[in-house]
Amino acid sequence: MHESSALTHIRKLTNSSVNCSQLDVELLMMHVLKLKKNELYRDNPQINDQNKKDILSLIKRREDGEPLAYVINEKGFRNLELYVDRNVLVPRPETEIMVQTILDNFDSKPHNVIDLGTGSGAIGLSLSKERNNWDITCSDISIEALKVAKKNMISNSLKVNLVNGNWLESFQRDYFDIIVSNPPYLCPNDPSVHSDGLKHEPIIALVSESEGLKDIEKIINKSSKLLTRKGCLFIEHGNNQSKQVCSLFKKYGFSEIATIEDLNGDNRFCSGRL
Ligand SMILES: C[S@@+](CC[C@H](N)C(=O)[O-])C[C@H]1O[C@@H](n2cnc3c(N)ncnc32)[C@H](O)[C@@H]1O
Repeated sequence: MHESSALTHIRKLTNSSVNCSQLDVELLMMHVLKLKKNELYRDNPQINDQNKKDILSLIKRREDGEPLAYVINEKGFRNLELYVDRNVLVPRPETEIMVQTILDNFDSKPHNVIDLGTGSGAIGLSLSKERNNWDITCSDISIEALKVAKKNMISNSLKVNLVNGNWLESFQRDYFDIIVSNPPYLCPNDPSVHSDGLKHEPIIALVSESEGLKDIEKIINKSSKLLTRKGCLFIEHGNNQSKQVCSLFKKYGFSEIATIEDLNGDNRFCSGRL
């Protein structure tokens, strides 16, 4: 067995890897050794041949363009640690802003909330974490995604209702105070769908017909029938879709329509009140 210390090995791998940063290699090493960063640096343990083999195969996946979050099955979202795999979109920092906007607009009075297309559960579970008296439903058309959301609900000791369904189709008589969604919104022939960043993610989480607006319109239309009086809808959209999405909010009778920017200053969400 050839042993060497974890930190020495991280340096060696960073130098020999074409597109893995030191941070990537560190995170992969922490994953293989099941250590937190402070433990890695405090203990600098010896690693064995099996550890070296494992980390090399993870580096290979990273070099093939697979998102780090899938390789280590983990992504932080606000104050949650979420399990993620190829069945769900890797939650994005811009979506954290949508969650913050909802929290800023609604105090801790009880509310009935639904997160449509929940994926890993990122939105619904982080709302549940911060508003434990809200009645929150997380729904998705993908059973595999819902399994991931359930795993995250349990590992974060939260309680939400998990529902398998096509947007709001299965809800005829349920009324919500808040409807939130980060739906698929890329045009099917958008070349970025095949880019390194996105090609490993589920296509059902990414694309929508009608220039990326078909699912957004379905959600806005049905929400206008299932929101309580003065209820609010929050939808994430592409940075070039703001005008069309605002027009759809108007078309289906929403008022107080607002556009919210992401951290890059791009228009990224639309909200409206019935
Ligand atoms: C962009 S991902 C968002 C995932 C998660 N909410 C997030 O922000 O990280 C869109 C999600 O919508 C789900 N989805 C796609 N079509 C759907 C439909 N017709 N009804 C319900 N969910 C759908 C996908 O399975 C995917 O999980």
